[in-house]
Amino acid sequence: MTERSVTLEKKLFTGKVALVTGATSGIGRATALAFAREGAVVVLAGRREHLGREVQEEIEKGGGHALYVRTDVRKLEDIENLFQTIVRRYGRLDFAFNNAGVSLPHIPTVTKTTLEEWDLVMETNLRGIWLCMKQEIPIMLEQGGGVIVNTSSILGFTGEYGLSHYCATKHGILGLTKTAALEYCSKNIRINAVCPGPILTEMLEGAVPYVPTMMEMMKNGTAVKRIGMPEEVAGAVIWLCTDEAAFMIGQEVVVDGGYTV
Ligand SMILES: NC(=O)c1ccc[n+]([C@@H]2O[C@H](COP(=O)([O-])OP(=O)(O)OC[C@H]3O[C@@H](n4cnc5c(N)ncnc54)[C@H](OP(=O)(O)O)[C@@H]3O)[C@@H](O)[C@H]2O)c1
Repeated sequence: MTERSVTLEKKLFTGKVALVTGATSGIGRATALAFAREGAVVVLAGRREHLGREVQEEIEKGGGHALYVRTDVRKLEDIENLFQTIVRRYGRLDFAFNNAGVSLPHIPTVTKTTLEEWDLVMETNLRGIWLCMKQEIPIMLEQGGGVIVNTSSILGFTGEYGLSHYCATKHGILGLTKTAALEYCSKNIRINAVCPGPILTEMLEGAVPYVPTMMEMMKNGTAVKRIGMPEEVAGAVIWLCTDEAAFMIGQEVVVDGGYTV
């Protein structure tokens, strides 16, 4: 699938503000471009400043509007700065895609996982989303509604050798998503999760040196015998943010080429 330009006629989100964490690469980057294509102002969060600025420029070149805010989701002060910036600049937040995530560059079993490794993955993937939601929900309550999409994984349903740290966070994200969805759906805030299968990004490619057969295994595991593209996850996120998805509450939307089927 080739990337589309950010200039298309049909715009779903004109006048709306969207936040994407982990917007510097992969699924987050593709989703940021998709939000921009639909007319939203996009706030881009991530640590790698040069990449964040590149995405911002790409959106602006296409006639969209974006703002990169350097953010490490493990750091409370960065998160506070991110949301203060959003409120100060735009005064609202319609959509939040909490997507920043990491895995480890190797596959330690439970007993071989160090405390530092466990904390890194937990603090980024699970605590990071919780900290963002603690800021997003009050803004959405104040303005009368909004939509939140959290990135889990198909590893939010199963275990995987050497990935206890990652699987624990992705299972946790689903619990957090469902509970928050119940707590805030009566206030017009819809909260769901996307669960990607194997998607061609830095994260998947990063695993290849440790598991050389990774790409082949993942490809063969899908029903369609291919790895997915970030834009294919972005499409699901965009749909979840539309009014067409008004009856979607606390769901896990699996985008995996039939991997789990
Ligand atoms: N690719 C797959 O097969 C797959 C499958 C299921 C789920 N997922 C999930 O999809 C999400 C996106 O991953 P991806 O596949 O697109 O991989 P990716 O290209 O490696 O993207 C990960 C993103 O997370 C950001 N990030 C990591 N640590 C961060 C931190 N402490 N603070 C802020 N941002 C941080 C990275 O930005 P910086 O490095 O610039 O901070 C990057 O933008 C992750 O949650 C991942 O678990 C991926």
